[in-house]
Amino acid sequence: MENGKTKNIVFLTGAGISAESGLSTFRDSDGLWNNHRVEDVATAEAFVRQPETVRSFYNELKKDVLSARPNPAHLAIAKLQESPLYHVTVITQNVDTLHEQAGSENVLHIHGRIDQVVCLNCGKVSQALGSVTGKTPCPFCRKEGFLKPNIVFFGENLLFLDEAQNALENCDIFVSVGTSGTVYPAAGFVREALLRGAETVEINKEESAYSFLFQKRFYGPAGKIVPA
Ligand code: APR
Repeated sequence: MENGKTKNIVFLTGAGISAESGLSTFRDSDGLWNNHRVEDVATAEAFVRQPETVRSFYNELKKDVLSARPNPAHLAIAKLQESPLYHVTVITQNVDTLHEQAGSENVLHIHGRIDQVVCLNCGKVSQALGSVTGKTPCPFCRKEGFLKPNIVFFGENLLFLDEAQNALENCDIFVSVGTSGTVYPAAGFVREALLRGAETVEINKEESAYSFLFQKRFYGPAGKIVPA
């Protein structure tokens, strides 16, 4: 307790925290971007050019994601959120919902969620646990052919950026878990925490692109290191 007030902890999590739940990362040797071209499935231009290819990529990915279960790293963060000593915000780049399944609240999905779609006709977001095609009608406006995975494609604006910036401005401890620190603006969050005078901690399987920015670094599997 700093003069009676709780400490604010901000986590930034990436694909590495979900690896031990059996989900592929993006840039490891068996990563998603080694088997698919980002330009074909993760850009707004790709969705305009070949919407069904993009939809089926996320339909397949969704099957794996929805069958995964939280691992001890997710559970440890959820447990920390129960402590009265800390106010914990989880900013996640992941589109899985393993933080929520572990019991976490206050999770900011800045790159979207794979269990949701957004309608390009009425703008509303709805849950979509099954496969979505060009024939799936929007549950709100009933139009077909307008549903897009609620995933932030490269070049699109992040979601919940205001809430994330607000958490960073009040951050005492910034903890990066399982991210390569290569994709902006998320990879720039640690700099904002540093400017604010926060303590910076990196937990990752190995050195990342931005390890040099962290005062404390713990390398190893997130499922072991985060609980510790
Ligand atoms: N425990 C801890 N760290 C791990 C583990 C593990 N079990 N397995 C892998 N890692 C680390 C890798 O060493 C790597 O540094 O997790 C990181 C995963 O990096 P990426 O695959 O680049 O994933 P991420 O950083 O989340 O990617 C950021 O890029 O493609 C976009 O939108 C996508 O959100 C994603 C963003």
